[in-house]
Amino acid sequence: MVSEIYGDIFSLRLASQRIVLVSGYRLVKEILVNQRHNFLDRPVSPLFNEVHQGNGISTSSGYRWRRQRQFFESQLKKIGEGKRKQELIIQQECIFLCEAIQEKKGLPFNPHSAINSAVANVIASLVFGKRFDYDATDLLNLLHLTEEATLLAGSPLARLYDAFPSLMKRFKGPHTKILDNYAKLMGFLKKRIETHKKDWDPFSHRDFADVYIGQIDKQRKDRDAAFTVDNLAHCILDLFEAGTGPMTSTLRWCLLLMAKHPEVQREVQAEIDCVIGQSRWPCLVDRVSMPYTEAVLHEIQRVGNILPLGMPHSASRDTTVSNYFIPKGTVVVTNLASVLNDKTEWARPQQFYPKHFLDDQGHFRNREAFLPFSAGKRACLGENLARMEIFLFFTSLLQRFTFSAPHGVPLSIEVHGSLVLSPKPFHICVSHRHAKH
Ligand code: HEM
Repeated sequence: MVSEIYGDIFSLRLASQRIVLVSGYRLVKEILVNQRHNFLDRPVSPLFNEVHQGNGISTSSGYRWRRQRQFFESQLKKIGEGKRKQELIIQQECIFLCEAIQEKKGLPFNPHSAINSAVANVIASLVFGKRFDYDATDLLNLLHLTEEATLLAGSPLARLYDAFPSLMKRFKGPHTKILDNYAKLMGFLKKRIETHKKDWDPFSHRDFADVYIGQIDKQRKDRDAAFTVDNLAHCILDLFEAGTGPMTSTLRWCLLLMAKHPEVQREVQAEIDCVIGQSRWPCLVDRVSMPYTEAVLHEIQRVGNILPLGMPHSASRDTTVSNYFIPKGTVVVTNLASVLNDKTEWARPQQFYPKHFLDDQGHFRNREAFLPFSAGKRACLGENLARMEIFLFFTSLLQRFTFSAPHGVPLSIEVHGSLVLSPKPFHICVSHRHAKH
């Protein structure tokens, strides 16, 4: 293993693989935005190749990635009716999440499972037009298998598989479990797609799966775009995986940080009471009238730092970044954590300080170095959806409940995880703010 440091660039050679870690807002932006066309691809990962075989969105590259991404982007970015439908789906799930939390009144509880089910249901509703009860076996299996696979994928042994695949194939290890989990997940999703195909109506599309099934026939001649049932299952798996882990982690941070900062929680609740009141559920248009809440949510994401290294990119041609030569095929890792904590961008990088996102008049202030979703053409596909979810879930919960630490148990802000960071499991107490809605 050979390593080298060049300013904010750290380079490492492992077996035949060269990995470059780029830090700081200026250089990360150079990679993701200014030179985006040179870093659009994902690195070849023998482990993920075995799982996805070049399909799906998050690990694929080239023309096939572009066409699949375009399809789901157009579904997610629909404006007007499409956006209203997404809002309704989230609002409906807010009701179920609040009911689940209401049941815990009085006793300390771990909010992970209810939140995880709620955000997975948003994806299930968009993709399959169906939500699950929070204790449904199908949902719990899906969540357990995805969570376990994500956790294992970040383990050092899984990375070793990518460096020495033919050697590692001879042994049992995390890769065996990952492959096993993905096979089960694919089986589950393909069964659902087949049921969907049976009652598919060309004149009425209920969800993303219906629209995609329509494309399979239309795009049959364009074999490289790979609109197939198999690829649909891989893409859906991507949406579940990328859409539930980071969302659950973010919403858990929301509750944890509100319990740790009661004065901030009170100020958010005052804004909710003033703008939304208690007689209706929050909706997306409220966002523009709630600068303090928006600032708090942005600061939670900045501090939460869910994907500290984003997802790896790969150099598709020889290039130089800040006079440093990066040859084609180099794995480029963008240190998003260094941007979210960049001393030259944030007044108090190490503190929870919502004023980072407010100007002197208390108006919301967008910040260029706010990059939890990454940036450029390969940035998070679900950014808009995630922002809607974060706002609606958070305001619905704080409209009804106050969150606090269990008596005599200090809440820890220690993190765990590898690819996706989350707060360590915690218990929290909830009290109802008003007798009735
Ligand atoms: C707070 C929640 C979320 C955060 C912080 C987050 C963050 C990210 C980041 C940092 C990336 C890597 C971008 C890069 O490679 O430069 C990413 C990719 C991705 N995200 Fe998200 N994400 C969130 C929620 C979601 C949701 C709800 C969905 C589902 C609709 C989603 C779907 C995806 C997909 C499919 C990719 C891969 C995109 C590609 O490779 O083209 N994410 N996300």
